[in-house]
Amino acid sequence: MFEFGDIRLRPIEREDLRILHEWENDFEVTMYSRNMPINFVNMYQLEKRYEEWVKDEREQHFIVEMVDSKEAIGIARLEREDWANVRSADVGTYIGKKELWGKGYGQQITVALLEIVFNQLNMDRCEASSVEYNVRAHKVLEACGLRKVGVARQSAFVNGRKWDRVRFDILREEYLKIRMELLKKTLNDKLGTYIEKHCTIRE
Ligand SMILES: CC(C)(COP(=O)(O)OP(=O)(O)OC[C@H]1O[C@@H](n2cnc3c(N)ncnc32)[C@H](O)[C@@H]1OP(=O)(O)O)[C@@H](O)C(=O)NCCC(=O)NCCS
Repeated sequence: MFEFGDIRLRPIEREDLRILHEWENDFEVTMYSRNMPINFVNMYQLEKRYEEWVKDEREQHFIVEMVDSKEAIGIARLEREDWANVRSADVGTYIGKKELWGKGYGQQITVALLEIVFNQLNMDRCEASSVEYNVRAHKVLEACGLRKVGVARQSAFVNGRKWDRVRFDILREEYLKIRMELLKKTLNDKLGTYIEKHCTIRE
């Protein structure tokens, strides 16, 4: 489990499929996260998807839960790729509890993922992508230091028209330069505990 500020990333258990069923069939959540709001999934399909996740060594899925209440609020995903001698991660997240959008948890989840990518997995770069109309997600990615590096033009059709998909990335050295500033901004009074737990080793 990986605790970061108010949130914790933990493995997805079979019991979580009930809440995932609700989120994965929510028009708004899937319109922003996957650009496929009509791709409904039933419980059987979700169970099959879960079986695939368990076996997949390249892609990790996490439940994001609140540290205090243990309430599940969303999911996060991290896919590793080793190509041409460079280790890349592709990350993504959604907050299924829509009443929690716009309260800063998206930034916490994104910095938590960046910490896993760079401070735990020692990767070289990290990327993410999001559809053109998802301004909230773009703000979060840019606030966490990722830069817009290009678009896949007209690559998603949602609500009657085609939209671009925007790609963002950050290199390890760029992250390390802004890391402390990001940690302070997202962790506030929990910074000391985090540094002690995840940036030092007790001998
Ligand atoms: C994208 C998502 C993870 C962001 O998390 P969040 O907790 O809502 O975001 P935060 O509160 O950390 O930050 C949101 C930023 O967008 C701004 N914002 C909020 N609502 C907005 C809106 N409707 N339009 C534009 N900007 C908006 C906020 O002011 C904030 O910017 P600021 O830090 O400069 O003030 C979350 O909204 C979500 O799960 N959305 C649905 C699924 C999704 O889009 N997943 C990401 C796919 S790439």
